[in-house]
Amino acid sequence: ARVDKAGHKHFMAKEIAEQPTVLANALSAYLTDGGIHFTDEGLDFTKTERLVMVACGTAFYACLTAKYWFERIAGLPVEVDIASEFRYREPPIMPGTTALFVSQSGETADTLAALRFCKDRADRILSVVNVAESSIARESDVALPIHAGAEIGVASTKAFTCQLNVLLLLAIEAAHQRGRLSDADKARMLDDLRGLPGIFNIALDRNEIVRTVAVAISEARDILFLGRGLMYPLALEGALKLKEISYIHAEAYASGELKHGPIALIDNTVPVIVMAPSDSLFDKTVSNMQEVMARGGRVVLITDAAGAARAGHDVWKTIILPEVSEVLAPILYALPAQLLAYHTAIAKGTDVDQPRNLAKSVTVE
Ligand code: G6P
Repeated sequence: ARVDKAGHKHFMAKEIAEQPTVLANALSAYLTDGGIHFTDEGLDFTKTERLVMVACGTAFYACLTAKYWFERIAGLPVEVDIASEFRYREPPIMPGTTALFVSQSGETADTLAALRFCKDRADRILSVVNVAESSIARESDVALPIHAGAEIGVASTKAFTCQLNVLLLLAIEAAHQRGRLSDADKARMLDDLRGLPGIFNIALDRNEIVRTVAVAISEARDILFLGRGLMYPLALEGALKLKEISYIHAEAYASGELKHGPIALIDNTVPVIVMAPSDSLFDKTVSNMQEVMARGGRVVLITDAAGAARAGHDVWKTIILPEVSEVLAPILYALPAQLLAYHTAIAKGTDVDQPRNLAKSVTVE
């Protein structure tokens, strides 16, 4: 079927705006009254000793986020790698390993090659894909669709949040099977997840404030993204989105690494985007922000109302999102990162849907 822009100026804008709908579709595809339905045979994690997750680009950042979930919620050790590194390293794959590949297109050459490397070595090959008939899906033991619908914009948006959605369902299911999550806690997490499309809808109203921030940062030559814990992969994704479509040099660091190098770059010409919901790590992030502001750095804080109240008055600009549980925050915080990249690209007049030098699907090495 032909996909059109449905009244939006760009596919990217359409795909950002579609997220509440596609997330809700994906949830209704996977959630039943009793719990989570992946396949008719079910997915058994009781014998899984570790996960190896491999992907490229945005899908790799979805894996990095999921590592926190699988480790913290399910107690499963996780190794994550970029497909082009993984395959040439030829890492030993121990018995008890499930290999999990994440790919929007299901055709990325390096990811497919990494999958083939794991085929006779891992206990099981899982994949999380958007294109159900893709090579990666076909060569997996189990392929789980993300139900995002066709994604046309080169910069991935709805595929990322829909990847996260399925990966979180997997982590919840694994945690429950492994006795790390009670029936009640599992039910509570799934209820939270059911509420996410509605919260996403509310957060889409932040479009205008994000646009004003985007205009303010669009003259910068370098932009730094900071995040801790679950927000670190989101900072990486925010920097990737921004550089892909606005061509501004953007880098992401784990907030705690600031003093080990990037702080040398800080002056009043470098906007610093801090992604920090008011979670258990928030106070540490505030002290990193103060280090930036003490050196003249201009901080854009993406947080919730409680975080904004605790952050102090020296913050240059604040984008306030609805409050969500710590576990769900990375899915919601993808939205301001996408909008910021989008509006910055518009302010710069670049080609949002077809950025120079990039391809939607990289089927050669
Ligand atoms: C390309 C795209 C990225 C994407 C990456 C992985 O570089 O431009 O947006 O994240 O490939 O693609 P995949 O289809 O495997 O998710």
